Amino acid sequence: MKRFYITTAIDYVNGSPHLGHAYEKVLTDVIARFRRQMGDQVHYLTGTDEHGQKVQASARKLGIEPQQFADQVSAEFRKLITRLEISNDDFIRTTEERHKTVVRQVLQQLFDKGEIYKAEYKGFYSTRQEQFLQEKDRLPGGAWPEIYGEVTEITESNYFFKLRNYQEWLVEFLTKNENFVFPRYRQKQVLEFLKEPLNDLCISRPRERLEWGIPLPFDEGYVTYVWFDALLNYYSAVADKPGVWPATYHVIGKDILVPPHAVYWPIMLHAAGIPLPEGIIAHGWWLQSGAKMSKSTGNALNPLDLVDEFGADAFRYFLIREMNVGQDSEFTREQFLVRYNSELANNLGNLVNRTLNMTTRFAGGVLPAAEITEDLERSLQELWAKTREEVITLCEGFQFHTALERTMAFLTETNAYVEKRAPWKLGKSAEAKDQALLRTSLATMAEALRLAVAVMQHVTPTATQKINAVLGYTPGARWQDELVWGAKLNGAKVEAALVLFPRPTPPATPAPAAGAKPAAPKAKAPKPPKPGKPDTGAAPTAGR
Ligand code: MSP
Repeated sequence: MKRFYITTAIDYVNGSPHLGHAYEKVLTDVIARFRRQMGDQVHYLTGTDEHGQKVQASARKLGIEPQQFADQVSAEFRKLITRLEISNDDFIRTTEERHKTVVRQVLQQLFDKGEIYKAEYKGFYSTRQEQFLQEKDRLPGGAWPEIYGEVTEITESNYFFKLRNYQEWLVEFLTKNENFVFPRYRQKQVLEFLKEPLNDLCISRPRERLEWGIPLPFDEGYVTYVWFDALLNYYSAVADKPGVWPATYHVIGKDILVPPHAVYWPIMLHAAGIPLPEGIIAHGWWLQSGAKMSKSTGNALNPLDLVDEFGADAFRYFLIREMNVGQDSEFTREQFLVRYNSELANNLGNLVNRTLNMTTRFAGGVLPAAEITEDLERSLQELWAKTREEVITLCEGFQFHTALERTMAFLTETNAYVEKRAPWKLGKSAEAKDQALLRTSLATMAEALRLAVAVMQHVTPTATQKINAVLGYTPGARWQDELVWGAKLNGAKVEAALVLFPRPTPPATPAPAAGAKPAAPKAKAPKPPKPGKPDTGAAPTAGR
């Protein structure tokens, strides 16, 4: 069994989770579930980043202790991952003793090796980013960019980690390991950053300025810089689990690649003599109206609202289907509804309904065996063989959005097959050939459905499980064996119906004000459901 250890970034607890946080958990979950299906021994870690100025300040504003505040917000993140059906094996909080112990050990070790020294620092400090700034960080006019918030000039003694000594080593390492960062073009950005000389990293904050942190083991007058503390979570969480470290992948957003994950982290590990992770996956941002979704810009979307409305599977499906890992994506409710309606409710939902409905009507609810293989069956089976190979290769390369597109194309072809075979017509014929074709078409559509949901399992685990259940099917232990076209459903007793992706009720639109122009129809907007029609999730042709 191949060991596969994957992590998400740990979220700051100074604000509630939003869609960007949810995406990272879901993406990592899809990778983790996929690797488990491929037979790897997966360990999936996520958690919360609880120290630092921002948390201290947010707690003070509420008049509570930072620990109490962190407890509350960390619980929100835990609730989110449960609702999103995340299959994590562990959840780490940086305020836990197991983490603090390891941070202190690593600091002491680096200090003893002479990798950390004390010096006086005079310069500019951004409280919002909790980092020291350099002249090169200024805008051309001399002002500090908005992202730094309030910048103050300070002079203080601090501890520094000898980052600079390892610059050459890191360049060499990245040049040798071209695939350390995914997507590859982001690795080039790291090398670009490394063209400028590195400064040593200030890893302490005097206690009088910041109390909420891990005290340095060699000087209690200081706490540890929050990034130095946070990065070590990946290692501290498995310190007592032999054989798990090193990490296979750290999944993070592109904003925290350079310098924390691609510069500080490899150097910290190398200096401490700890093996490096195999790679880093840097995903893009969810945007709203072109801007990064974030709490501070006020455009953050609560993922739980969408999960409440559409269910975890639909939410996970949309995030993975819509975003090409590494690139940014604009979130709009319209686009969500387009995918929900056309791909989940219509394409997949339609096939589920037809299969259950027609097997019930024409075969007494028991799936028959396929008896005839004509061109229609042959070409669908050939398409499946190609789809299966492509989907696995695409998922191995994190191209989950394209894998889902191929799966949807296969479902579309399966629905087209059903249209062509028209079992509802065959069912009316008493001819032996028509009866054999009827049984063949029922078996074929059920088998195609079983296979399609098997390759969606890591994205829509509950829907896959529910569909298997209504097909009267229990999958075997080896996922890849499940992907072979066969006769696994022969004789299975199916349920009569399943409503998986009900059509959403459109929000009541207020009557336009007198004289107001009617709103221009939005491009790609989904068709609203027909009024007055009971919503069973069934497509118009189901049950014909
Ligand atoms: N606490 C640090 C990470 C420390 S890891 C040792 C942090 N926290 S965060 O809460 O600000 O962000 C957590 C993760 O969410 C990051 O990987 C970040 O890129 C991601 N996202 C935050 N907003 C995002 C979007 N709008 N879109 C996608 N992901 C983004 O940084």
